[in-house]
Amino acid sequence: MFKAYVFDAYGTLFDVHSAVTRHAGEVGDNPARVSEIWRTKQLEYTWVRSGLGKYRDFWKLTEDALDFALRAVPGSNQQARKLLLDAYRELDCYGEVPETLNTLKASGAKVAILSNGTPEMLESAVNSAGIAPLLDNVFSVDEIGVFKTDPATYALVTNEYGFNPGEIAFQSSNRWDIAGATSFGFKCHWINRTSQPDEYEDLAPEQVLENLDGLV
Ligand code: LAC
Repeated sequence: MFKAYVFDAYGTLFDVHSAVTRHAGEVGDNPARVSEIWRTKQLEYTWVRSGLGKYRDFWKLTEDALDFALRAVPGSNQQARKLLLDAYRELDCYGEVPETLNTLKASGAKVAILSNGTPEMLESAVNSAGIAPLLDNVFSVDEIGVFKTDPATYALVTNEYGFNPGEIAFQSSNRWDIAGATSFGFKCHWINRTSQPDEYEDLAPEQVLENLDGLV
């Protein structure tokens, strides 16, 4: 058992592709490609802006990334923009999430999110998934204006709880986030939902799981 269980939000608790899936019929010729590019560009923008010290919040980057994706994929319907952004505020959470958080919270551990998302978009996603009562804290990097993997983002958690990094279990489906959190000193579980090959071998997680079921 750990003193705290901290979760990445997008891709880990919330299915980022569920927005496009929900409106697949309205997105155009290749909804899956739009969704992939949307996510890839959204993340690329965080790394570039952190590197440059030119922060722009994650909601704006989500909009910018969608605009790029709809322009990049031939046959996309630009009118789907609003539908997709509205859906992004209410993404589906993965099926095992409520039960996992509930079990961890009942054990007495702190349970929290640490995300690049803005407080507003996180609040909306957490409320629509009905998991707000299961969370002690929702940490947003927006507070410090820099994205993961900057060590200051992971320090938001240790600063608040006063625990050592090694007393905290961190879960993310993003292998680059696991690399950042491992470097900071968290004990990491990589939630490899899509059977990706491993990378960042010098920054390896404690454990690789297919989903959150194996955590409790
Ligand atoms: C987050 C993104 C990176 O929730 O998935 O921080």
